[in-house]
Order: sequence, then C-alpha cells, then structure tokens
Amino acid sequence: MSTAVGRPARLAQPAGETWALPGGRGVRLRPLTAADAGAEQAFFRGLSLDSRHKRFHVGLRELSPALLALLTDVDQRLHRAWVAESLQPGRPVVADARYVRDAHAPERAEFAVAVADDWQGLGLGRRLIAHLAAHARQQGVQALYGDVLAEHRRMLALMRDQGARLTPHPDGPQLVRAVLDLAPAPSSIMPACDDSSSAAACCWPPYWR
Ligand SMILES: CC(C)(COP(=O)(O)OP(=O)(O)OC[C@H]1O[C@@H](n2cnc3c(N)ncnc32)[C@H](O)[C@@H]1OP(=O)(O)O)[C@@H](O)C(=O)NCCC(=O)NCCS
Repeated sequence: MSTAVGRPARLAQPAGETWALPGGRGVRLRPLTAADAGAEQAFFRGLSLDSRHKRFHVGLRELSPALLALLTDVDQRLHRAWVAESLQPGRPVVADARYVRDAHAPERAEFAVAVADDWQGLGLGRRLIAHLAAHARQQGVQALYGDVLAEHRRMLALMRDQGARLTPHPDGPQLVRAVLDLAPAPSSIMPACDDSSSAAACCWPPYWR
C-alpha cells in the first residue's frame, strides 16, 4: 500500500476501546504510535509466511527498517493506523489496520489489515474493516480500496460481504481491487465523531453493524 503522504502536524491520540471476541478472548484497539515499532516488528515477524504474503504480496521474512518506518511513522491524519493488542499478559499486538489517503485525491484511501494467525476466524478482520470504513467515512473519504491477491478467497469473500465492488486491477489478473463506496455520513441523523470517540460506536451505517 502506498504511504507517500505528507507530514502534517500530529493530532492528539484518541483513547482506545476494548472488543470482546469469542472464546473469552479480547483485544484493545488503539491508535498506533511511534513507540510501537518493536511490537509491530514482532507482530509481522510472527505472522505465517502465507499471511505475510497475503498482506504484502511478497514473501517478507521481517520488515526492513524502511518498511517498518513507513508503517510506524504515522501522522494519524492522512495515514491512520490502529493496533489491536491482546488483553492477555504481555499485551502483544495481534492485529494491525490502517488506511492512507491519497495526498492528491484525499477522498480516496487505501486500506490494509492483518490479523495474527491464531487470532483469525474470530471476527476481528471483519470488525477492523468495518472500523476503518466507519472512520474513513466520518473523515470524508468516499472510496476506501484495498488490493487483494486474486487467490485470496477469504478476503475477497469478506470484502464482497461488506458491500465492496471487486474490480480488475491495473497491474494484472493476479490482483483484485476491492472498493468500498462510502456515502457521506448525514450529520442530521448521525452524531459527529471526534478523535476521542469510537467511530464504530457513533458512525456505523446500518450495513456495517
Ligand atoms: C484476511 C483477514 C484479515 C481476515 O481476518 P479474520 O479475523 O480472520 O476474519 P474474520 O474472523 O472477521 O472472518 C471474516 C470472514 O472470513 C472467513 N473466514 C474466517 N476464518 C476462516 C477460516 N478459518 N476458513 C475459511 N474462511 C474463514 C469467513 O467468511 C468470515 O466470515 P463470517 O464471519 O461470515 O464467518 C486475516 O485472515 C488476515 O489477516 N490474513 C493475513 C493477512 C491478509 O490477508 N490481509 C489482507 C490483505 S488484502
């Protein structure tokens, strides 16, 4: 995903929120900070090769210093990123979700999500994508897109189920571009979100719930 965005002033960090998951597990979703570099490296290193390939489309063993910097030097304005940390001791990061607005067309944003292998299938991915979409929509993003390997049937099914258009990718048939069209949030019927509120709690349109 592109992270070629400008470096505007950093915004205040909103509080996190806790999500209960099946099996008595839970996570705390909170904005990523520069202090998460080590936790991010550990998270991505801990992914299976298959999951890393699905996330980055190449077979990375670990994040290079440059890629780690791109993923953790987040302005939380054009580039919004969250981590879900386990509520278990040690609070390891178990998921990462982000979107980056196009600096030249900020009504468009590219998203990416990854869930630790032993936390997959618990609804976290679905919920993270809904969170990204709700937040992006509240920020005025009109199209949230992600590039998915054509062989990644789980992600394609998930995106289709979330209402995405699956479109051909300009780079060829090995990729599919999943596009979520986000209608503007009508302020008359939805409370406005600020940076301290949960986008999921106050801004989900009906189809994200
Ligand atoms: C793709 C990914 C984000 C999905 O996250 P997740 O937390 O596993 O997904 P969820 O538990 O929310 O499940 C979403 C859907 O995926 C499917 N799914 C989940 N677990 C599955 C499994 N073990 N086998 C088959 N399908 C499964 C189901 O259709 C599910 O829908 P449902 O809730 O109606 O059952 C996650 O698998 C992941 O991070 N993979 C590696 C990185 C990656 O692929 N990132 C996306 C790049 S485009």
